[in-house]
Amino acid sequence: MSNICVIGTGYVGLVTGTCFADLGNEVTCLDIDENKIAGLKRGELPIYEPGLEELVKRNRDAGRLKFTTDYTQAVPGAEFVFIAVGTPQGDDGGADLRYVEVAAASIAETLQGHTIIINKSTVPIGTGDWVAGIVERHLPTTPHNLTFAVVSNPEFLREGSAIGDFQVPDRVVLGSTDRSAAERVAELYAPVRTSIIITDLRTAEMIKYASNAILATRISFINEISQICDALGADVKVVAEGMGQDKRIGSQFLQAGIGYGGSCFPKDVKALAYMAEAANCHPQLLLAVMDINQDARRFFVQKLERTLGSVTGRKIGVWGLAFKPNTDDMREAPSLDIISALVRKGAEVKAFDPVATKVAKRLLPGAVEYGNDPYEVVVGADAVLLLTEWNEFKGLDFERVRNSMAQPFLFDGRNLYDPKEMKRLGFTYRSVGRPVVH
Ligand code: UGA
Repeated sequence: MSNICVIGTGYVGLVTGTCFADLGNEVTCLDIDENKIAGLKRGELPIYEPGLEELVKRNRDAGRLKFTTDYTQAVPGAEFVFIAVGTPQGDDGGADLRYVEVAAASIAETLQGHTIIINKSTVPIGTGDWVAGIVERHLPTTPHNLTFAVVSNPEFLREGSAIGDFQVPDRVVLGSTDRSAAERVAELYAPVRTSIIITDLRTAEMIKYASNAILATRISFINEISQICDALGADVKVVAEGMGQDKRIGSQFLQAGIGYGGSCFPKDVKALAYMAEAANCHPQLLLAVMDINQDARRFFVQKLERTLGSVTGRKIGVWGLAFKPNTDDMREAPSLDIISALVRKGAEVKAFDPVATKVAKRLLPGAVEYGNDPYEVVVGADAVLLLTEWNEFKGLDFERVRNSMAQPFLFDGRNLYDPKEMKRLGFTYRSVGRPVVH
C-alpha cells in the first residue's frame, strides 16, 4: 500500500483520491479552500457525483482518507503527490496555470526523500517540464537527499460516471522522462487491470487534448449532419445508428443535440487551438468544431422562434439545466446560452432541473423563475424545452403536461422522445435533425 497525497479536491482530485483510498492506499487530500476541507471532514461534498459520498464516507471511516489544508501534513511522507488543481481558461483562451504553479512550489518546499509528482490537471503541452523547473527552483537547499520525478497522468473521467471510469478505465496514460517513476505510478494502477501506455511527458499531455478534441469533433460532426438532415428530411438518430454499427466508426459521441458543454471540451478544444496557433499551426478543424458547437444552440432558438412566430412575451418551460445528466455542473452548459437568448428576446422562462437549480440561479439572468418539479414549470406555458436528458424526464405523465400547457409545443434539444409518440400524445413536437411527424 502506498502513501499518496492529492492536491485539489475538485472533481478530478476528490474522485482520484477517494478511489485510490478505496484500493487500500493511505490518501491525504489537500485543498487550500478551508471551507471545502471543513465540509469534507464533516462528510459534506463540494460537488454532486453519484456514489462519491458513500465512497468518501467508507474510506474516511476506515482511516484511509484524510483531508487537510496544510502542505506540511500532507506532502512529507507521501511517495506520490498528485496535482489535480483547476486550470481555468485564461483571458486569451490559453490555460491559466497559476494554481498548478502554487501547488508545484508548495510541494517542493515540503517534500521529503524521493517524491513522484504526478500531473493530473489538464495542462498545456510542455507543462510537465515547466513543473519540474518550478519544483527544482523551490527545493530547499538542505537536506541534500531531496529528489523528485514528474509524471504526466491525464484523466479521462466523465462527470456523472467518474467512479466507474476510475475503476474500469479504457487505459491509463503515463508520461515521464524518468521511466522508473512512470513504472512506479503504473504499479498504483495495477489493481484496476487495464492497458497502461508509458510515453514521454509531452506525448502524454497531447493524448489528453487529442482525446477530448476528437470527442468534441464527433459531436460537432453529428450536429452538422443534423442540420443537413433537417434541411433534407433525413433522421439523424437513425443516421448515427447506421453509421455507428460500422466498427471503424463506432456509435459513441454521435448524439446530435444542442452542443457540448461542461468544464472540459469547451476549454480543452479552445486551449488546443490556442497552442496550435501559438506554434504557427492552423487548427482549422478545431475552429470549425467550436463554431458548429455555438451554432447548435443558436439554431435551436431559431427553430423555436420559427415555430412560435416570436418568443417575446411567451411563457417557456425548461426541463434540465446541467450541461449533461447526473451532475449539477453548469459550466458552459448549453442551457445558459439558450435561456439567456430567450430572456433577452422577452420570453418568460421557468426552469426545473433535478439538481442544478442552485448553481443555475447564480449564472442565469435574474428574470428566470424556477419550479420544484417538471410539471410546475409547464403550467400555462406556450412551449417546453428539454435541454438536459435526465432519466426522470423520460417517463413523465405527458397527458398531464399537455393539458396544463397553454399551447402544446415541445422542443426536444436532446432527441430524447419518439416523434410519433409525442404526436400521438397531442404535442407539436420538434427535435434536432429529425423529420416532423404530421
Ligand atoms: C469529458 C470526457 O468525456 C472525459 O473523458 C474527460 O476526462 C473529461 O471530459 C475531462 O476532460 O475532464 P465530461 O465533460 O464529463 O467528460 O462529459 P461528456 O460525457 O464527455 O459530455 C460532454 C458534453 O458533450 C455534454 O454536454 C454532453 O451533453 C455532450 N455530448 C456528449 C453530446 O452532445 N453528444 C454526445 O454524443 C455525447
